[in-house]
Amino acid sequence: MCQRLALIFAGAGLLGWMTSQLMLCLLLAALSGLTWQLWQLYQLDRWLNGDPAATPPWASPVWQEIAAHTARLRRQSRKRKRKLSRLLQQFQQATAALPDAAVVLAEDDRMVWCNSASQTLLGLSPGRDVGLPITHLLRHPVFVAFLNPRTLRESDRVEFPSPVDDGLLLGARIVPYGKKQRLLLATDISRMRRLEQMQRDFVANVSHELRTPLTVITGYLETLVDSEDVALEHWRQPLRGMQQQSGRMLHIIEDLLLLARLESQKERSPRRPIAVSKLLIDIADDALALSGDLGHRIEVIADPELWICGCEKELRSAFSNLVFNAVRYTPAEGWIEIRWWGDEGGIHLAVKDNGEGIAPQHLPRLTERFYRVNRDRSRGSGGTGLGLSIVKHILNHHGGQLQIDSELGVGSVFTCDFPPELRVEPVLTAARHGSACR
Ligand SMILES: Nc1ncnc2c1ncn2[C@@H]1O[C@H](COP(=O)(O)OP(=O)(O)OP(=O)(O)O)[C@@H](O)[C@H]1O
Ligand SMILES: [Mg+2]
Repeated sequence: MCQRLALIFAGAGLLGWMTSQLMLCLLLAALSGLTWQLWQLYQLDRWLNGDPAATPPWASPVWQEIAAHTARLRRQSRKRKRKLSRLLQQFQQATAALPDAAVVLAEDDRMVWCNSASQTLLGLSPGRDVGLPITHLLRHPVFVAFLNPRTLRESDRVEFPSPVDDGLLLGARIVPYGKKQRLLLATDISRMRRLEQMQRDFVANVSHELRTPLTVITGYLETLVDSEDVALEHWRQPLRGMQQQSGRMLHIIEDLLLLARLESQKERSPRRPIAVSKLLIDIADDALALSGDLGHRIEVIADPELWICGCEKELRSAFSNLVFNAVRYTPAEGWIEIRWWGDEGGIHLAVKDNGEGIAPQHLPRLTERFYRVNRDRSRGSGGTGLGLSIVKHILNHHGGQLQIDSELGVGSVFTCDFPPELRVEPVLTAARHGSACR
């Protein structure tokens, strides 16, 4: 190419020199060179755009090279396009087969795309609803509040009935991805919730049916143990064992019934102002009785002016469980502190002990039903593993939460955190003492 240009310019120079029109000849040579290059470019463009009449610009090796390179790129891009469309097809087939609803949301929560399950579960239509804000399409207040970035989320999931069918309960979550996009995933959880309810009903019914016969057996055993009849002297020991075990079974049944009641309670139990410091002093006295000869030191540091609005029976049960646990799982002569105070973060009860402590792997599971760290030891001390589960439910009923900190061999702190709104002014007159609060 360079050689050819040099030859043309040399020829034009020679002709210009011979005709004394050097500048004109050189200009004409430059113009014809430029025209020829433009023609090649035009041919290349037509050829690339698939014009059958266009001839490929093979005239020079440079244009040949450009044409070959461009053709190669086009082939690669066609291959990539085919691969992408195959992937897209596979993705669409996979999302169509998904039993869960998947909806892509833009940064401003407008719907970008949805799969076919979104139509059956959420009533969304890709043709009609794309571009609309999701809160205009799913208007359930629980979902709208969940999506609002200003509301404090208690969990990363939300449950609400399907807008298509009230009988379907959906569990939804939002997963952020890419550049500020979000994926809304919704699953039908009705069957799971129904099974859980069936399981709870079964446990509650069985416990209820067992309570009466067990109460009768325990009553007879008590009479026999207390009897002065010399004929029973030989049976005294086994009778005491039977009485102890039937008492334990009754305790489990009472706990199961209490749990079932707490779980199914739709309405809150009646609330009254509670003098918690007095309640804690009573519990500490019971704990001292439980400790007996073990000589635990139990200290109560409680603000007597700090009253809360709640269900006294439930809170007594929750606080006793924490304090009795501290006695049961702290060796003789151990030290237990019960603290009740309020600050700007809320109202708190902490039960601290210097007992055996709990290894970190057990902590997340402690509030599960029947979960015990050491089954044999707990059974020996009469524990069933239902206590902390009951505590958690009672605290939930009062808008509170249980926090557990523990170190093996050092001790544990169980803290109940209540919202500041539960605080009420101390009630002094006996007449007002029984009156309900919020
Ligand atoms: N203060 C504590 N120190 C060490 N371990 C504890 C303490 N409190 C609870 N635990 C552990 O947590 C487990 C669960 O306690 P939870 O109160 O639920 O059941 P429990 O005391 O065994 O039986 P119950 O249903 O009679 O209360 C206990 O078995 C014990 O292993
Ligand atoms: Mg307990």
